[in-house]
Order: sequence, then structure tokens, then C-alpha cells
Amino acid sequence: MTTSADTTPLCQLDDIPDGNAIEVEAYVGGEPESLLVYRQGDAVSAFYNVCPHAGRRLDYAPGKFLVRNGLIICAAHGATFTAGDGNCQTGPCKGDRLRAVPVTVTDGTVHLA
Ligand code: FES
Repeated sequence: MTTSADTTPLCQLDDIPDGNAIEVEAYVGGEPESLLVYRQGDAVSAFYNVCPHAGRRLDYAPGKFLVRNGLIICAAHGATFTAGDGNCQTGPCKGDRLRAVPVTVTDGTVHLA
């Protein structure tokens, strides 16, 4: 078992439905932030819950994200982002990307890296 006092646990891997995302509120750099945490199998990626287009939240209701076929869809104007890396594929901010938050998974727990 590997743990570190320097990492902040965000959630359990099993809290995230496979192929979907949940919201986790956490302190990042000392600031309270809303994060989107996405899971595909054992791989997890996390992003600030802020769309690069107009700075709106990505969710359509608090903590409810539109995720389909590996794409995160911004609820405001429909921009789509690759869930693994946050790159915008279509929409008004095509070519931009979500701001990633580094995370690791250790023994079934997702941590801020
Ligand atoms: S704020 Fe996300 S597409 Fe406009």
C-alpha cells in the first residue's frame, strides 16, 4: 500500500461510474474548486469545472455532467471535450482545452497528485 501525506484524497474510484464523471469539491492551490473527475476503466482524469469558452460551469445541474462516448459536453453551448485529455473537439472553443488537475489512483482512491 502506497500513501502519501502530500496528496489529497478526492474520492474512491468506485464512486465514479465507468465512462462517466462526477463533481468533487476540493482545495487546489489553497482555493476551493469544483472539479470534474472522469473515469474510464482504471484511468481517471480531472479538470476544473470551468469551460474555456465563456467560463461557465460544464454541468447542467450541480454535479451532473453530460458525458457520451468519451466526450464531455458543456451544458452551456455544447462544446465537446475529449474526456481523457480535455481537448475541445467541436463548438465555440474548438482547439482550446479544459484545465487539467493532475490526479493519481492508489489502492482504489483518487488523489490530487
Ligand atoms: S461556456 Fe461552454 S460552450 Fe460556451
